[in-house]
Amino acid sequence: MTTINDSKIIEFKKMCDRRGNLSIAESIFDVPYSIERVYWLYDIPGGSMRGGHAHKECLETLIAISGSFDVNIWDGKMKRTFHLDSASKGLFIPTGIWRTLTNFTSGAVCLVLASQKYDEADYIRTQKEFLSFIK
Ligand code: TYD
Repeated sequence: MTTINDSKIIEFKKMCDRRGNLSIAESIFDVPYSIERVYWLYDIPGGSMRGGHAHKECLETLIAISGSFDVNIWDGKMKRTFHLDSASKGLFIPTGIWRTLTNFTSGAVCLVLASQKYDEADYIRTQKEFLSFIK
């Protein structure tokens, strides 16, 4: 069983010069899995909450490519909030962790690196189902 302590902040390599910064996320090397899918959240109205689910198998890393937001994680017992505000850092979330995303700043963009293709069957979308899944 995973806990919120299995989540971690990943610091991506940062190449900085006069022209600006460049960060890199390579499968296996920078994130602990092969990246199969990338999606992003943007044009998020103030006060919106995203997420509100857990995954059975899919691993994800969330990056605040622009602006900032909070990622609230819960393993059924412990809770923790990460404030993401850097394009050179990501939050790795293992399986079996409930997450909500809140407090998006105006213009914030959340990039997600996922280990699997989209499969609705991999989602746990109610807290009741989540609590029985982790037992
Ligand atoms: P949803 O899971 O509600 O987004 P969030 O994680 O921000 O809460 O997804 C919104 C819609 O997009 C939902 O109908 C499922 C669909 N979707 C895809 O078709 N493919 C994907 O890769 C993702 C992440 C979502």
